[in-house]
Amino acid sequence: MTRIEILEPHGLCAGVNAAIAKALTLRDVYCLHALVHNEIVIGDLKALGFRFVDGIEDVPDGATVVFSAHGVSPRVREAAAARHLTVVDATCPYVAKVHAAARDFARRGLPVVILGDPDHVEFQGIAGEVPAPLTFAEALSPASPLAEGARLGVVAQTTMNADDVARQVADLRTRYAVETAAEVCRATKERQDAVRAFAGDAVLVLGSRTSANSRRLADVAAATGKRAFLAGTMDEVRALDLAGVATLGVTSGASTPERFFADAVRFLKHVPQHVAIIMDGNGRWATQRGKARGEGHKAGAKTLGDVLDWCGARGIRYLTVYAFSTENWKRPKEEVDGLMSLFARILKAKESRFVESEVRFRMVGRRGDLSPNLLAVIEALEAKTARFERQFIVAISYGGRAEIVDAANAAIRAGEPLTEETFRRFLYAPDVPDPDLVIRTSGELRTSNFLLWESAYSEYYFTDTLWPDFTEAELDRALASYAARHRRKGGV
Ligand code: FPP
Repeated sequence: MTRIEILEPHGLCAGVNAAIAKALTLRDVYCLHALVHNEIVIGDLKALGFRFVDGIEDVPDGATVVFSAHGVSPRVREAAAARHLTVVDATCPYVAKVHAAARDFARRGLPVVILGDPDHVEFQGIAGEVPAPLTFAEALSPASPLAEGARLGVVAQTTMNADDVARQVADLRTRYAVETAAEVCRATKERQDAVRAFAGDAVLVLGSRTSANSRRLADVAAATGKRAFLAGTMDEVRALDLAGVATLGVTSGASTPERFFADAVRFLKHVPQHVAIIMDGNGRWATQRGKARGEGHKAGAKTLGDVLDWCGARGIRYLTVYAFSTENWKRPKEEVDGLMSLFARILKAKESRFVESEVRFRMVGRRGDLSPNLLAVIEALEAKTARFERQFIVAISYGGRAEIVDAANAAIRAGEPLTEETFRRFLYAPDVPDPDLVIRTSGELRTSNFLLWESAYSEYYFTDTLWPDFTEAELDRALASYAARHRRKGGV
């Protein structure tokens, strides 16, 4: 199995982060060029109603226009001002610095050479700052308009390979008196340095093909003799052929969202997306210690808090736990009442923890069976945490058969012909992917009516450990067991 090593830094650079944060506060706007070169970010913005245009003339009068992180030429700024457009400038501060340097060279009457790709919008924006910019090739061609030994200013696109910049500046110095403000931005350079220093045999760059800094990172990896992969979507990650790769370094371009990075790494490390747990053995744990069963449930609740943290640290996106089954109502009233008040007490007390750790809380089960007080606590917590991505789902008064019957009745009421996919829409949490791994503690080898529909293709892990004694090491054993399995899902 390929070992996965995360190369630091990765994720959004400060300039891109600021551009996206600025954009997310806007609605009903036009964006000149891609805000940043990442298709996931662009997809998110399109879903919010952003319209992307290639020229300032495509923005209607009176509209708001966003200048992308790559910057624009002064001509574009003037056109926007002349047409009284409202401008939101998301130009990366690093790019703005390069514009200022080019402007300064031009003001001093120096010819300006721009290193980079003349087809890239960042290059074109910088070029607009000077009267007759030259490319590296033009400056060194025999037909160069510059006299041997002439003084000139050199700037560079911020996402270039730092080695190429140094080499090109050195080449220019063989013919001219060069003043340079050419520097690759720190975020780009640090990532390139990490790729160069990485001792493994292959590097995966997570980023879009349209992203110059992501492509450059892959070039840097290839230039140091490593295999280089570039993937911009989860489909591309899933399609990677890592045969023969012993250690894969994973990095990302400066415009790649952390969400995609985390999903890709989880997939590559075979970490399950969704873990479900049958937390069994609280009663026996208490009895073994001469305590009341309720003490076992309290200890189990403490373990659950830890497990939620451990799952979060491992990139597990969904954790579902079986806290109370439709059958558990048959237990003595004292135990049932104790459990219900434990749920209400803990969920209320932990509200701020859920918010701080950005965990969305959800309940699955028959809500009508719960007391108004407990239901109110649950629904308030659900509402407060609804915006978070990572999910903690607690099954209370839950039965797999009950869920299927409830879904079937809802489907009949809706009058829909049933397929597996339409039926799924009537389950308690239809948007949650099926559990990849179901863990059951306390040595019992049954599903006990848990997630009957959803666990059709789940992997199971059983342990004799009683739930209150479940440890981080035990979780890792379950995850290692899962990672070693080959999930055929009916195929070969
Ligand atoms: C099964 O063990 C466990 C339960 C029925 C309750 C689980 C509940 C918690 C761990 C608390 C969760 C708290 C929140 C806030 C969701 P058992 O009682 O059947 O044990 P036994 O088989 O040894 O009798």
